[in-house]
Amino acid sequence: MISIKSKSEIDLMRKSGEILAKTLEIIKDAIKPGVSTGELDQLAEDFIRKHGAIPSFKGYKGLPGAIDYPGSICASVNEEVVHGIPGLKVLKDGDIISVDVGVYLNGFHADAARTFAVGSISQSAKHLIEVTTQSFYEGIKSAVKGNRIVDISIAIQKYVESNGFSVVREYVGHGIGRDMHEAPQIPNYATRERGPRLEAGMTLAIEPMVNQGKYQVKLLDNKWTVVTTDGTLSAHYENTIAVTDGEPLILTELI
Ligand code: MF3
Ligand code: CO
Repeated sequence: MISIKSKSEIDLMRKSGEILAKTLEIIKDAIKPGVSTGELDQLAEDFIRKHGAIPSFKGYKGLPGAIDYPGSICASVNEEVVHGIPGLKVLKDGDIISVDVGVYLNGFHADAARTFAVGSISQSAKHLIEVTTQSFYEGIKSAVKGNRIVDISIAIQKYVESNGFSVVREYVGHGIGRDMHEAPQIPNYATRERGPRLEAGMTLAIEPMVNQGKYQVKLLDNKWTVVTTDGTLSAHYENTIAVTDGEPLILTELI
């Protein structure tokens, strides 16, 4: 069942999204060599709570045997794809870091991620981040009513692969609203399943995860952190969006 949100519910999601977008700005400004991922997490949690909101990820239930998610952000460095647990890891010049944040306010979640450079990074790392970012914008062009989920997936995959990178298969985007993860799933690659037709009022987290090398990933022993199997860099770009009668709205960007 896909929940359809009213205009006023989408406005509430935009409020969560606005706090989230500002959180990402604060994190972006704080990222530099010598800063730990745990410090970034604390900045995010303080900012979110100061606005009367709750970090969606904190305490989230993981796989059997995994601890409940301990952070307010995911901080995934270099070959880490998603769900890097913030802590003592110190950023160094030339790293890339994917920061994923969830904000819950007034009954609604927003979810977004960006990959940032630490100091000066290689041309190839820059290219990876640019292609990942643009792949989101290619995908959202297809997030219009009447299309199917797979149209978003195809647009993302085409763009990424035509630039020589690969799309992660094992983790996908998702519907979002009163729950952080709602139906439908939104793969970033074409599947046999074309997915439901898009309707006005659907709110979706579109989140391409892009690897420099092969698309395969593996899970670390902490049962959270996902890394590329071949050790190459990975980038992530995510926004919460709303399908409308016209152009899609991005709810996790400052307007
Ligand atoms: N954006 C990620 C997702 O959609 C964030 C989940 S992290 C978790 O799955 F800790 F909350 F699981
Ligand atoms: Co998400």
